[in-house]
Formats: sequence, C-alpha cells, structure tokens
Amino acid sequence: MNALFDFILYPLFYILPAYIANGAPVIFGGGKPLDFGKKIGKSYIFGPNKTIRGLAIGIMLGIATGTLESILPGFSYMLVVGVLESFGTHLGDLTGSFVKRRLGMESGSSMVLMDQYLFFVFALAFAYPAGNMPNVYGLLFLVILTGILHKLTNAGAYVLNLKKVPW
Ligand code: CTP
Ligand code: MG
Repeated sequence: MNALFDFILYPLFYILPAYIANGAPVIFGGGKPLDFGKKIGKSYIFGPNKTIRGLAIGIMLGIATGTLESILPGFSYMLVVGVLESFGTHLGDLTGSFVKRRLGMESGSSMVLMDQYLFFVFALAFAYPAGNMPNVYGLLFLVILTGILHKLTNAGAYVLNLKKVPW
C-alpha cells in the first residue's frame, strides 16, 4: 500500500499541476501569438502555436490545481509547488519552441525527447527548491508515464480536431 503511494499515487499527485499547465493550452489556447509574429532572422521567435491565451490559461489552471491539492491536510506545500511547476512548464515549453525555430523547424514539427520532456524537466527543476519531490522510483515512473501520456494526449487531441498533427 505504501509502495503504491510512493511510486505511483504520490508522483501523479505531485506532477499534476505541470500536466494540467501543459495540457490546458491544447484545449483553451489559440489567438495572438506570444511573439506577436516577430522573427529573429528568417524564423519566428516562438512561432504561432505559442499563444498568449495558452500561456495565461495554462499557468492559471496549473496554479489552480496546486491550490486545490494544497487544501488536503499535510500537503499545503503543493501551493508553492504548483506555482513553480506551472511557470517551469511554460518556460520549458517556450524554450523548446525557441530552439526548434532557431534550428529552422516549423511550428508543430516533431523533435523527439524535447517535445515530450523539456516541460517536465523544467517543471521538476523549478519545483525542486520547494522540497517534497517523489523518490527516484516515483520519478522513473513519471518519466515513463510522461512519454506515454504525451503520445496518447496528442493523438487524442488530433482525433478531437484540437491539433493539426497527431504528435
Ligand atoms: N498552445 C497555445 N499556447 C501555448 C502553448 C500551446 O495555444 N503557449 C496550443 C497550440 O494550439 C499548440 C498546442 O497547444 O499547437 C500544442 O502545443 P505544443 O505541442 O507545445 O506546440 P506545437 O504546436 O508542437 O509547436 P512547437 O513546434 O512550437 O512546439
Ligand atoms: Mg508539439
């Protein structure tokens, strides 16, 4: 029972604000691009798929998730973790787009590992100072889960017409 909590349930609970912050823009994003269509050389700074609304709603819903979690007795620290994960998630996501554009890759093109894991690594790195991270096995579970969820949610979003490409 304890192992189930440590390796699966707690890691899921801990990373949920980052997952929500990362997934929400697919549903609620769109509109004005964050870079206002500005370019560095021939390529957009971030590209049209990184929008102001996606960023704002992603961060807000991520923080809301952490806030709700922090109400549970003993988990008040999730308020801070949620804030850090939400900002970290989006900084990682924007960093990924920035790098892809500098490499001349179009918005929505796929870049293995970076697409799946940069938001995740940034979220964990940002939240680390607040302590209470899952243990090594829990983190390993999240690495595997994040790869699988990324594939599934993107394919699902494509089927539901929320995304133009299934990756
Ligand atoms: N999205 C958004 N605003 C953001 C981030 C994401 O509106 N700040 C929405 C966009 O509709 C985007 C979708 O979420 O197409 C999926 O995001 P992601 O896969 O991170 O972007 P890509 O479309 O793959 O673009 P890039 O090549 O820049 O990563
Ligand atoms: Mg993508």
